[in-house]
Amino acid sequence: MCYNKANQTAGGTVIGRVISGKASAEDSPLDINLRPRYLDEFVGQSRVKDNLKIAIAAAKGRGEPLDHILLYGPPGLGKTTLASIIAGEMGVNIRTTSGPAIERSGDLAAILTNMQGADILFIDEVHRLNRTVEEILYPAMEDFALDLIIGKGPGARSLRLNMPPFTLIGATTRFAMLSAPLRDRFGAVYRLDFYDETSIGAILERSARILGVKAEPEGLAEIARRARGTPRVANRLLKRVRDYAQVIADGIATREVALEALAKLEVDPIGLDEVDHKVLHTIIDKFNGGPVGLETIAAAISEEADTIMDVYEPFLLQLGFLDRTPRGRVATHLAYQHLGLPYKNEKPQQQAGLWNSA
Ligand SMILES: Nc1ncnc2c1ncn2[C@@H]1O[C@H](COP(=O)(O)OP(=O)(O)OP(=O)(O)O)[C@@H](O)[C@H]1O
Ligand SMILES: [Mg+2]
Repeated sequence: MCYNKANQTAGGTVIGRVISGKASAEDSPLDINLRPRYLDEFVGQSRVKDNLKIAIAAAKGRGEPLDHILLYGPPGLGKTTLASIIAGEMGVNIRTTSGPAIERSGDLAAILTNMQGADILFIDEVHRLNRTVEEILYPAMEDFALDLIIGKGPGARSLRLNMPPFTLIGATTRFAMLSAPLRDRFGAVYRLDFYDETSIGAILERSARILGVKAEPEGLAEIARRARGTPRVANRLLKRVRDYAQVIADGIATREVALEALAKLEVDPIGLDEVDHKVLHTIIDKFNGGPVGLETIAAAISEEADTIMDVYEPFLLQLGFLDRTPRGRVATHLAYQHLGLPYKNEKPQQQAGLWNSA
């Protein structure tokens, strides 16, 4: 596999991002049509779905709102989709906001006082709530109460307002960044995993049907193989292959058409793009296979550390191409193998370093 620097055109950045699980502007019209509306339409994640089905049936049976739910996992795996499915299945309204959007505690108090009984409040990027806002959330989650401070200085007094019971659904790509008190107040915590190829295949079939894409099963299989176990990436690749089929071929996404289209996007046979390759090559070529800190890798390839951590690293870890050690990231023999490089088993400094730090 050759990743020629000369191919890095002005459009290169856009092409590079086709495999990003993060939402982009081109996804939004897609998202609305393709987003499943019921749990039964939601493919894969059977463990999460089974647990949710029971929790929803039980809450409905008791006529109570659901426990607060935390959904976490890499971008594009269906956290937002699940939140709206849960609201639909419970037959309640969902109010959507995000951690960075709630700047002051008053903003959150305003949202909470407007909630109707049993409504769902969905807070995306819940790890980015600031501390003072979080503190309003604690009594709201625990006692369905709002503690407001009236006035300032020595005359200030606190006032407790009761609010109707509600369900908070929080979503995050960074479980570890959530504060412990907030984490503890969620009754259920579900981790979304990357999807297997069969599930991605089923998602692609459904999307192709909805979008009216004429695709042969072998064509969809090639897309599924490169979708990084991520529905958002799968749908995006499907759209690119559809465009290619329409313009270059005769509108049918056969295996050949899919392969050609995907080759143009510079996505390798297992879904890695130029940035993944740069990450691996940096660790291997510049740092002798690691360990090397994420910030250092990010600086070496001029990418944001956050993007690497959210988008690239989780999939490389999942593939077993990277290991996380206390001293940084290490490229495994599988990464060497994939890049066609000889694996140097003997790495005395690294081994010694690892053991010394233990
Ligand atoms: N299980 C699924 N079945 C079918 N389609 C899915 C599934 N999960 C996600 N999708 C599709 O993938 C897209 C991305 O999902 P969603 O926006 O819910 O991801 P997310 O986890 O909230 O991502 P982010 O972390 O970026 O907010 C949706 O538009 C939906 O069409
Ligand atoms: Mg989301």
